[in-house]
Amino acid sequence: MAASIIDGKALAADIREDVKRRASALAARGVVPGLAVILVGEDPASVSYVTSKEKACEEAGMRSFERRLPASTPQPELVALVETFNRDPAVHGILVQLPLPDHIDEDAVIAAISPDKDVDGFTPVNVGRMILGQPCFLPCTPHGILKLVERAGVPTKGAHVVVVGRSNIVGKPLANLFVRKELNSTVTVCHTGTRDLAEHTRRADILIACAGRPRLITGDMIRPGACVIDVGVNRVEDLSAAKGYRLVGDVDFQSALPVAGSITPVPGGVGPMTIAMLLSNTVESAERTVRA
Ligand code: GUN
Repeated sequence: MAASIIDGKALAADIREDVKRRASALAARGVVPGLAVILVGEDPASVSYVTSKEKACEEAGMRSFERRLPASTPQPELVALVETFNRDPAVHGILVQLPLPDHIDEDAVIAAISPDKDVDGFTPVNVGRMILGQPCFLPCTPHGILKLVERAGVPTKGAHVVVVGRSNIVGKPLANLFVRKELNSTVTVCHTGTRDLAEHTRRADILIACAGRPRLITGDMIRPGACVIDVGVNRVEDLSAAKGYRLVGDVDFQSALPVAGSITPVPGGVGPMTIAMLLSNTVESAERTVRA
């Protein structure tokens, strides 16, 4: 039987409706949630993500402060901009789109973001809080994945979760979240140094592909009935497509579909959830200013 499709677009729409209600309740109290989005350079994928984030923000009744800077922007100028947003009471969330150009020290820029406005959950303070299980902004893609697994009704307690990828943004936080007591999974993290990847992936009850390699995971690498989460968004050449490329995941969808129990599509799976969780973190940040 073919896998059931986990509809990230529909779940994200539900979350965005909830965010919109919360934003409107805040606006009635004189607080419009505001998200500052900073993009340095013109990487096409980043331009597309940032444009979607800004649009989603406005649709949710939130204010978006966007700054698109040239790739040559000096690091001190970028850090100064982050600090300006740190001080601005109209800004409740700050997002610096990654990756940054090579001459900029990404760690230094992230560390400049106030942890109270770090709606990406990337600062060392929030990463530390996440690992310790303390209240914090959870990084958006991993948080969205937890919601997708929950919506699919897949049990996590005692499940073997295999994460393929160890990025700071997705792989590492996911591994930390799934070992929390509430989820109680056993986690294996695979990466480019892993010997015999398939031997690990075939043992996964929940397989999460976040390596950034098109169609890395094929059907024969999946345990029958497993829940497969595809985080990959890779552009591959397709001269028959209007844009000359199309998007594929890290999972070979066609061969995975007959084997998996449930699977997220690309597009329409994890991607929309990342934006929904970003909006959710931003509205939560604004709510804290009212409560404080
Ligand atoms: N680059 C790829 N994903 C993300 C994300 O979730 N946040 C930021 N800031 N940059 C990214």
